Amino acid sequence: MARSLDIILFVLCLAILTPTLNANKLENNEYWTEQRPEFDSYWQERAKVAKQENKAAYFKDPYAISGNFTASISEIIAVKEKGRNLGGLKDDGTCLATNPIDRCWRCDPNWANNRQKLADCVQGFGRNTRGGQGGPIYVVTDPSDDDMMNPKPGTLRYAVTRNGSLWITFARSMAITLQQELIMSGDKTIDGRGVDVYISNGAGITIQFVKNVIIHGIKIYDIQVRDGGMIRDSEAHYGFRTKSDGDGISIFGASNVWIDHVSMRNCTDGLIDAIMGSTAITISNSHFTDHNEVMLFGASNDYSEDKIMQITLAFNHFGKRLVQRMPRARFGFVHCVNNDYTHWEMYAIGGSQNPTIISEGNRFIGPYNKMLGNDLINSKEITKREYTEESEWKTWQWRSINDEYINGAFFVQSGPELKDRPFSQKDMIKAKPGSFVGRLTRYSGNLRCRVGEPC
Ligand SMILES: *[C@@H]1O[C@H](CO)[C@@H](O)[C@H](O)[C@H]1NC(C)=O
Ligand SMILES: *[C@@H]1O[C@H](CO)[C@@H](O)[C@H](O)[C@H]1NC(C)=O
Ligand SMILES: *[C@@H]1O[C@H](CO)[C@@H](O)[C@H](O)[C@H]1NC(C)=O
Repeated sequence: MARSLDIILFVLCLAILTPTLNANKLENNEYWTEQRPEFDSYWQERAKVAKQENKAAYFKDPYAISGNFTASISEIIAVKEKGRNLGGLKDDGTCLATNPIDRCWRCDPNWANNRQKLADCVQGFGRNTRGGQGGPIYVVTDPSDDDMMNPKPGTLRYAVTRNGSLWITFARSMAITLQQELIMSGDKTIDGRGVDVYISNGAGITIQFVKNVIIHGIKIYDIQVRDGGMIRDSEAHYGFRTKSDGDGISIFGASNVWIDHVSMRNCTDGLIDAIMGSTAITISNSHFTDHNEVMLFGASNDYSEDKIMQITLAFNHFGKRLVQRMPRARFGFVHCVNNDYTHWEMYAIGGSQNPTIISEGNRFIGPYNKMLGNDLINSKEITKREYTEESEWKTWQWRSINDEYINGAFFVQSGPELKDRPFSQKDMIKAKPGSFVGRLTRYSGNLRCRVGEPC
């Protein structure tokens, strides 16, 4: 009994918290109170199963996994430093893959006939994600989204609610406006390579209590709150959903999620939020702009089950007109490696409740000081500990290793130092890995791949 009521108890816990200062809906008690009716017996069962799966996806030694990923990057950089050609890379300009994830597939001129190979390329905490690999290809032919309960065959909503593994592609370029949140079932890949797929001006994507989802090569922007109603979430079930939260991608109690080469901007709530014990997630090669609260990992100070949250952010470009939360983390372990932080207004990386943050080989370009009325706004500090005294946060492990700081940006470190990181082998590379970030992230966001050519 206790277990099946976990969710409800969690919601009740939140309901008695005092309201926070944060605008994110997920941190808002009323939002949670409204969400309560959604957890019917079907979802409670799904939550139970997901909880086991999330536990199974958790890595007991996150330092080893993150160190392994770092090693694979420093290998590439070291080779580059010595001026040698890189294995797997062509020098004739036809294949421009610059990082270990891209190298794995982008140079293959036959990628379009070999789409499912992509699933072998993920690294970091999401490394076991295979999405729809092994399943049939499903081609979306119809951009409409008119029937929430019985989606028309050929639509994206039809595809993501089917049983079993499915690798979802698109017959042509299309703009899809989701009338309500798109609730995905597990073992799916959304693969927008070769065409332009825009998801915009409607609801966003929800990955709730499922595992094994890849989202690759699409653009998501101008996502809005939608009213909810009866929505199909799988072949065998539909149910009542309250208002969607306005996230671009909402990861809720899910594991093994890989988001790669996605461009995102201007959603009503977060661009990507991962909450409720979600884990084994990699967000890579993506491009983010025009947004206030970019990524929230863990929504509640009381939900310590978010300790199992393990997330890798790699080769992303945090770009123009971003304000804060890249990410804002609670409890979990975030490995932030080789991202390009070129714009933030308030801070880049923040959190509370003792999250572990390993920031490695990133480039941070601090914002210029600004006048706001009579006040001088100086936001050059990369980090922010929310609502916590230094006496408490000084033990949190937030380490910056081989990051590059530009224009006065600085990272306030705390907690135990990390030893034996591959990047720290000084004889291996002279330059800071952070100074390679421009190259490593050059192709972030949605790519324009042509069938029959390296991408
Ligand atoms: C990372 O781990 C895999 C096995 O999981 C191993 O094959 C690979 O060599 C490791 N890479 C590095 C650079 O340590
Ligand atoms: C889909 O899965 C559900 C739940 O496992 C099952 O009841 C249903 O029969 C399946 N549908 C098909 C068409 O296989
Ligand atoms: C952001 O999206 C909203 C719709 O949700 C739209 O009304 C607004 O114009 C967009 N803002 C920008 C800067 O594109």
